[in-house]
Amino acid sequence: MKNICVLVSGGGTNLQALIDAEKRGEIQGGRITCVIASKADAYALERAKNNGIRTRVLVRKDYADVTAYSKAMCDALIEEKADLIVYAGFMTILDEQVCNTFPNRMINVHPALIPSFCGKGFYGLHVHEAALAKGVKVSGATVHFVTAECDAGPIILQKAVEVQQGDTPETLQKRIMEQAEWKILPQAVSLFCQDRISVENGTTIIR
Ligand code: GAR
Repeated sequence: MKNICVLVSGGGTNLQALIDAEKRGEIQGGRITCVIASKADAYALERAKNNGIRTRVLVRKDYADVTAYSKAMCDALIEEKADLIVYAGFMTILDEQVCNTFPNRMINVHPALIPSFCGKGFYGLHVHEAALAKGVKVSGATVHFVTAECDAGPIILQKAVEVQQGDTPETLQKRIMEQAEWKILPQAVSLFCQDRISVENGTTIIR
């Protein structure tokens, strides 16, 4: 059984999708063993506690710089014996020591079809604001491995979602979560836990 550690910063609906999928038996070969939040008041922590999952809080401003924060995160993940680390709406920057310690063992869910609307500054509602400003007719979500470059790691799964006339960033975010993120994140986690994803030449192969 692989130990899954989930990193969160906010509401934690993606964490909830993972918890629900695990309860339905859809995460084969893995279980969520710890949730680590970058904010003490993240509602995601309540979701973890309600489901008997161990929690930790690591707040960026308690550390001198990003290097010290990333070291603390690495130490916590090693203590937790993490086999897979999932960024589920985790909004705090970590440096490359974390992905170097856990190469191809960290995955992120991003609320757009990478390589569109991704990279520095594209997070949360900003992603959907940018998609609507561009006038795209289709957006969606991407699950990918985390590498040192923001949102640039090998893509595991993607799902497209239609943009509708009159969408606001909030309505588009909700549709993308419901139709894409909450589905492909648990699927990708389950594929990983069954050792069905390999990375070759910067792209993934799913067996
Ligand atoms: C989700 O839409 C997630 O894709 C996004 O933040 C939201 C978190 O919601 N992540 C990013 O933008 C990362 N670049 P949640 O806390 O309810 O899961």
